[in-house]
Amino acid sequence: MILKTLDDLLGEGVTGRRVIVRADLNVPFDKQNPGVISDDGRARAVLPTLIALRDAGARVIVMSHLGRPKGAPDPKFTLAPVATRLGELLGSPLVFASDTVGPDATAKAAALVDGQVLLLENLRFNAGETSKDDAERGAFADQLAALADVYVDDAFGAVHRKHASVFDVAARLPHYAGGLVLREVEVLKRVSDNPEQPYVVVLGGSKVSDKLAVIQALLPKVDKLLVGGGMCFTFLKAQGHEVGESLLEDDMVATCRDLLSQAQGRIVLPVDVVAATEFSADADHVTVPASEIPADRLGLDIGPESVALFAAAIGPAKTVFWNGPMGVFELAPFAAGTRGVAEAITRIDGFSVVGGGDSAAAVRTLGLDEAAFGHISTGGGASLEYLEGKTLPGIEALEK
Ligand code: 3PG
Ligand code: MG
Repeated sequence: MILKTLDDLLGEGVTGRRVIVRADLNVPFDKQNPGVISDDGRARAVLPTLIALRDAGARVIVMSHLGRPKGAPDPKFTLAPVATRLGELLGSPLVFASDTVGPDATAKAAALVDGQVLLLENLRFNAGETSKDDAERGAFADQLAALADVYVDDAFGAVHRKHASVFDVAARLPHYAGGLVLREVEVLKRVSDNPEQPYVVVLGGSKVSDKLAVIQALLPKVDKLLVGGGMCFTFLKAQGHEVGESLLEDDMVATCRDLLSQAQGRIVLPVDVVAATEFSADADHVTVPASEIPADRLGLDIGPESVALFAAAIGPAKTVFWNGPMGVFELAPFAAGTRGVAEAITRIDGFSVVGGGDSAAAVRTLGLDEAAFGHISTGGGASLEYLEGKTLPGIEALEK
């Protein structure tokens, strides 16, 4: 990869320079307690970059998105709680701007002193951030770029987005890759170029349609592809089972049938399922064979026999890539599948990669030992798109 790195920038000297850092501070919040961050892993992951710049005397401007607001300010998606948390993690005062490129941000960016850190409000409060129109994105990128002298991208979780702060700002300022982006790309390259065999991939999450491209890309490379989470029901249906009220993508059943026949036994599906009366922590639930899901119930986790089956497949692996929870782990009665599979992954004598937002959050929310995994990625969609072999706009922009 031919690109300049944070170390290059630090080597040039940053004292007194205004450095704008794209971070991915899109952290999950506790569903029961609004405003309470349930996993600050993404904020902690970018900390070394922010601290290095701060300690070298840069005037640091941090920008991020949070959630998917519709291009206008929306208090539900304010970065204010993240500013508080980031300030605590930095251990030094953090300035927060109530807008992104408006009067508050402009004044606060101009007033920064050496070694101070400013966080801008949610980038997606501006329609230009995610616009498909190059000119609209470019106009917003002009305003962001005007705040700073230099751009650092350390938002690995967003490198697959062709957004103003990811793609267009890089074209307007001297640009550098942060340490997190570099580390993530190095790990994914290792897993995709020559994974040590046996290679087992574990996929979960709600939709087959989101994972279709990666399944097609990985199938020729893997020994086993284990499928859990909401997406397993479309596969079970393709195998001829009724899935009751479970998540189902009807229009993907035929595709799943094709994948199963292509895979010749390498796709492994759950053999039992925890089936509940409704999507709730206190719903009545029973474990049933995957072929006998009652018509009035929905599967919210894989069952213990499936965990054992998956663990046996994972055991001998030298490389494991895992993306997507096995069930609704946020609700205690449906967390055992994700926990069991995660624990099996920690036991391998090999290299394991946890790809992404939700599975990374699951590792920490369930209190598993982060150090027991080879690498925990901060990017879900980004790591999948990398493994699909797609060009990532954020990386492409840094290479130019
Ligand atoms: C993520 O959570 O996957 C990243 O922060 C990107 O967010 P997005 O999927 O809303 O673009
Ligand atoms: Mg996402």
